[in-house]
Amino acid sequence: MDLSTVQIPVERVAHSKRSEVDFNHLPFGKVVTDHMFICTFRDGSWQDPRVVPYQPISLDPSAKVFHYGQTIFEGMKAYKDTEGKVWLFRPEDNQRRLNISAKRLAIPEVPKEIFMEGLKTLLKTDQDWIPTAPGSSLYIRPFVFASGKGFHASPADEYTFIIACSPSGPYFSGKVSVRIEETYSRAADGGVGFAKAGGNYAGQFYPTQLAMADGFQQVVWTDDHHHEFIEEAGAMNIFVRIGNTLLTSPTSDRILDGVTRKSILQLAEDEGIPTEVRKIRVRELVEASQNGTLKELFGAGTAAVVSPISSFGYQGKRYELPDLENSYASQFRKRITDIQYNRAKDPFGWRFPV
Ligand code: COI
Repeated sequence: MDLSTVQIPVERVAHSKRSEVDFNHLPFGKVVTDHMFICTFRDGSWQDPRVVPYQPISLDPSAKVFHYGQTIFEGMKAYKDTEGKVWLFRPEDNQRRLNISAKRLAIPEVPKEIFMEGLKTLLKTDQDWIPTAPGSSLYIRPFVFASGKGFHASPADEYTFIIACSPSGPYFSGKVSVRIEETYSRAADGGVGFAKAGGNYAGQFYPTQLAMADGFQQVVWTDDHHHEFIEEAGAMNIFVRIGNTLLTSPTSDRILDGVTRKSILQLAEDEGIPTEVRKIRVRELVEASQNGTLKELFGAGTAAVVSPISSFGYQGKRYELPDLENSYASQFRKRITDIQYNRAKDPFGWRFPV
């Protein structure tokens, strides 16, 4: 489909809900904007892309998304600078990754033109919803699900692609402590861990509830073989600093190729920070904590941005991280958000005008 010459129709709301929202106290992901983008895959092609008022959708109870979890999503953000210009951060990487997930879940790929034009039209329509208070942004949730009917356990013949937006504050409130998982697994070799598939997240809720009952906010997943190596935290990739070396696990079948993760690796290279992308043993973390060389643990993701971790739990013990003045986490967070909000030069070409 050539959308470069096609205008995506916009049906506007009769009354905006914007004046009901307190933009200075935004939770994460709870408030939605006035409009959404929607497009349907039917009879072998994506059809009828349009922006409409945000509204509930009607689905047949046999829609395959309910039974077989055939659904994928992305997480992105839009930022408004001090002059009111709107920016995205590496959106084409999200578009590509959506289709990597789509392929693995036997969902038809979304053409780049539909994704990008739909997104831009929606953001222009709802641009007044992009918050400017410090730490806030417009969280964007593109998702595709099997809306086709039938209980047969096979791919659907109809799919729906929606982009919804939520003016949001920070994902985490306060310090984050994590538990290193020793029983449950998030992903396995040959599985879907690398994809942003809905079920990857549903499967984490129960072990995360258990961790929360013990006073942690997140689980750090380990390999499914022997729970020996740290992998990712589900809502974010994980970075470790031992001495002055920055470490993170290599992406794999089991680990999401995070946009923030790879941006941090590029920033680390740019700043000459010694970096190792390799498997990290839980034992190594524990030993580094005990001998004082473990300086930092932090998570990185679109929603989480760069989130310092204050302690980790393992085998019933809690290990505290030092409170550093000039942490890598704060350095990376500043550089990334300065680029995102157009407060600094962008030597990497990550910022994308809407
Ligand atoms: C994101 O960071 O955008 C994600 O998709 C993670 C999600 C669990 C909030």
